[in-house]
Amino acid sequence: MNETLERWGSKRAFILAMTGAAVGLGNIWRFPYIAGENGGAAFLLLYVGFVLLLGIPVMMAEILIGRAGRQSPMRSLASLARANGASPRWRYLGLFGALTVFCILSFYSVVSGWSIEFLVASVNGNFDGQSPEAIGASFNAFLANPGLLVFNHSLFLFITMTVVAAGVSKGLERLNNVLMPLLYLLLLVLAGYGATTAGFEETLRWLFLPSFAALDATVVFHAMGHAFFTLAVGACALMAYGAYMPEEQSLTRAAFAVAVLDILVALLAGIAIFSIVFAQGLDPSEGPGLMFVTLPIAFAELPYGSLWLCGFFLLLLLATWTSAINLAEPMVATLTGLGWRRSLSTAAVALGVWLVGVLAALSFSTLAEFRPLLGRNVFELLSSIPPDVFLPLGGLLIAIFAAWVLPEAHAAKALGAGTRGFRLWRATLRFVSIPLTVVVLIGGVLAL
Ligand code: PFF
Ligand code: NA
Repeated sequence: MNETLERWGSKRAFILAMTGAAVGLGNIWRFPYIAGENGGAAFLLLYVGFVLLLGIPVMMAEILIGRAGRQSPMRSLASLARANGASPRWRYLGLFGALTVFCILSFYSVVSGWSIEFLVASVNGNFDGQSPEAIGASFNAFLANPGLLVFNHSLFLFITMTVVAAGVSKGLERLNNVLMPLLYLLLLVLAGYGATTAGFEETLRWLFLPSFAALDATVVFHAMGHAFFTLAVGACALMAYGAYMPEEQSLTRAAFAVAVLDILVALLAGIAIFSIVFAQGLDPSEGPGLMFVTLPIAFAELPYGSLWLCGFFLLLLLATWTSAINLAEPMVATLTGLGWRRSLSTAAVALGVWLVGVLAALSFSTLAEFRPLLGRNVFELLSSIPPDVFLPLGGLLIAIFAAWVLPEAHAAKALGAGTRGFRLWRATLRFVSIPLTVVVLIGGVLAL
């Protein structure tokens, strides 16, 4: 067998898995709506800054721990801690990560269900010749239909957990290797279309000319949370993948490549969506429905609109699917690590996520006024607290572990980036990423 080819194959497979985890609803659905609610350009600038100063170094730390431990996150953390004279209680960081992905997957699956609904609607040509008002109204009617939301959530969770149970996610990633460039191309076409609309100038100004007048601790806090969320960092989910990363692969290069791609996809989506928002006089802070009401409007104006729209939602679902698998796998791994059978673990995770997801789905109708905490309903809680608080907290602990607990020699070897690269990375973690996360997290939590 050709050994070089083999290794190349697994390096490539690792990048594919990372990209699959990173690129998803976070880029195309969440980025535009959170940016919209947080004033646009200042948020974008902060978010890109956080990706560079926190996201990339912490992502490297997270994967490094997985690669050094070569086991499930809980076991890797425990054995690395023990080997270096630290408390094996570090394993609970893995458990905390499992709790985080549990909460995230519960709302992620509901929103992915919206994409299923929109895929079906566009196959049926339901958006043909519809006015922006009619599209907005039909989205609201859909949200108010609990049965339909629960059905689509169940369907999406089912296809996700089936892939996890069957262990065929590699095949899906390979499929996405071919199909994701089509999604990027489609976003490019949409952004190009946006450039021809009357809303384009305002979009550029709004996305790229920061006004710091409206800047407060909350905007900074949301930008940090989104940086972690979009890169899939802070929940030990990438740590689980790191266990399979080839020894000789460059961690630095992989992290940068994935982060840059992730930002580009978000930018394209942002340009496409805000052009429609401004051209149609819609509200940028419309909330979670933003992508779902703007894109059908855009496609309705293009020739063969429904066909493009079907393609778009199909590709979005594929991107979402690989992210959801990455969210589910650490939980399943945690349970199998406790000695459970894989089938039972998958079923238990599916059931738990399904139940909480149903509460999230009903937050748009029956349970809209059930606000257990901070005046937020279940959907609002799940879609804000885990990304904004849990991921940065997990990321902080991961960074502390990699920068302070792992001895220099061990970490340097695990990073494999040469002495200068190692020093720069560790100094960034110690003196930038860690203090920055602490400050923003405290400021944000106090402002909750
Ligand atoms: N990064 C994914 C997205 O942008 O859609 C979401 C995500 C995946 C968050 C995995 C966290 C995670 F562990
Ligand atoms: Na992302």
